[in-house]
Amino acid sequence: MSIAIVDVIRAKRDGLELSPEQIDFAIDAYTKGLVADEQISALLMAIYFQGMQPAELARWTTAMIDSGKRSDLSSLPKPTVDKHSTGGVGDKVTLPLAPLVAACGAIVPQLSGRGLGHTGGTLDKLEAIPGWRAALSTEEYLRQLHEVGAVVCAAGDDLAPADRKLYALRDVTGTVESIPLIASSIMSKKIAEGAAGLVLDVKVGSGAFMKDVDRARTLAETMVEIGGAAGVHTVALLTAMDRPLGRAVGNALEVAESLEVLAGGGPADVVELTVLLAREMLALAGLSDVDPAIALWDGRAMDVWRAMIAAQGGDPAAALPVAGEIQIVPAPASGTLTGLDAYAVGVAAWRLGAGRARKEDPVSAVAGVLLRAEIGDEVKAGQPLLELHTDDPDRLPAAMAALDGAVSIDGPEVPLPLVVDRVG
Ligand code: URA
Repeated sequence: MSIAIVDVIRAKRDGLELSPEQIDFAIDAYTKGLVADEQISALLMAIYFQGMQPAELARWTTAMIDSGKRSDLSSLPKPTVDKHSTGGVGDKVTLPLAPLVAACGAIVPQLSGRGLGHTGGTLDKLEAIPGWRAALSTEEYLRQLHEVGAVVCAAGDDLAPADRKLYALRDVTGTVESIPLIASSIMSKKIAEGAAGLVLDVKVGSGAFMKDVDRARTLAETMVEIGGAAGVHTVALLTAMDRPLGRAVGNALEVAESLEVLAGGGPADVVELTVLLAREMLALAGLSDVDPAIALWDGRAMDVWRAMIAAQGGDPAAALPVAGEIQIVPAPASGTLTGLDAYAVGVAAWRLGAGRARKEDPVSAVAGVLLRAEIGDEVKAGQPLLELHTDDPDRLPAAMAALDGAVSIDGPEVPLPLVVDRVG
C-alpha cells in the first residue's frame, strides 16, 4: 500500500494516531529527501498541537534511530551506562562523571554535542585542553572503551541522521518546544549510542530548556517511557538550573573546576550532583555496592580522566589557556545573595565568546564568568561578585548588559533544591 505524506499530515492535524507504517514512511522519506520541507514542517506543527500517544512516540523514535545505525556494545566486557543532561549554565558534570563511573567498574560511551546559544557543550569544554580531539574513528572509540572504560567524543554522521534534519527544520518553524519532539530527538541519539542504561539530568529553571517543574517532569516521564520501550533502563533526575551549577561558566574555566572535583575538592553542588548521578548510573549497571564518593576522593577517577584525555591526544598535564582580560563585577548592595539568574550568566558568558550563535561559529576557550560568591552567602556592597573573562575587551559591555538585574540581594527568591525530583 502506498502512503501519501499529505494523508499523514491530515491524520495528525485531525488528532488521529499515526500508524507505524505512516511514521516509518514519513521519517524514512524525509531523511532521504523524498518529501518536501514544507510537508514535514506541517506535520511537525500538527504534532506540536496534537501531541503523540506513547506507542506512536516509541515508533517515531525507533524510526529516527533506524535512519542511521544503532551501535552494538554488547561485546564490551563490562556493563555500559551513560548520562545525558538537557543542558544548563555551568553544567560541566560529564567531565568528572564519565571517568568516575568508569573508575567504579562500568563503561561510559558518550557521544556528545557542541553548545548552541547560552548553554555550553561538552565537546567545546574538552577542546580547551591542548591537543584534545573530539573526532574518533569507530576503531579508536571501541579501543578506548575497552582500554580506558570511558569516551566522550563527537557523534558520527550515522547517529540518528533524521534528527539532524528534523531539528534544523524545527528550529525555523517554531516547533522546537514540543515535548514529544524534544523527547524523541534526545532519546533517538542516546538509544542509538548503544548503552544499556541511561541516566537523564533534566534541568529546570531560567537557564534550562524547561523553565518550570511540571513541564520538566513531563519531559522526564516521556523520555523514561521511550527508553523503557526501547529496552534501555532509563531514570531521570530533575535538577536545579535557576542559578549556574558551580562557580565556573565557560570552557577552560569549567575544565579547571572539573579538575578540582577530580582532585577531591570543587564546589559542593558540583560534587553532590556528580556523586548522585554516578550512584544512579552504577545502580543501572548493577554496581550499587560501589561508592563513587571514595573513587573521587582517592584519585582513581583522576587516573581514568588522565587516561581518557591522553587517549584522545590531549595533554592532561598542560596548563589551560587563560583570558587576557578580566573585569570584576562588584556586589551592588550588602546582604544575603538570594538570586543569580542562570540564564543571564549564560548569556553573559556566551557574549564574552564562550558560546556560539550559529553551528559553524568558533568558540573561545578562555571566555566565561567566574562566580566569587554563591547563593546564600553574605556579601558586602562593592566586594567582587563575578569575574568576566575574555580575550576581546570589546565584548565586555554587551556581557555587562546581559547581567542587568541578574543579581538579587535580600530578595524574595526561593532557590530550587539541587535535586527537585526523580523519575523512573
Ligand atoms: N536537545 C536535543 O537533542 N533535541 C531537542 O529537541 C532539544 C534539545
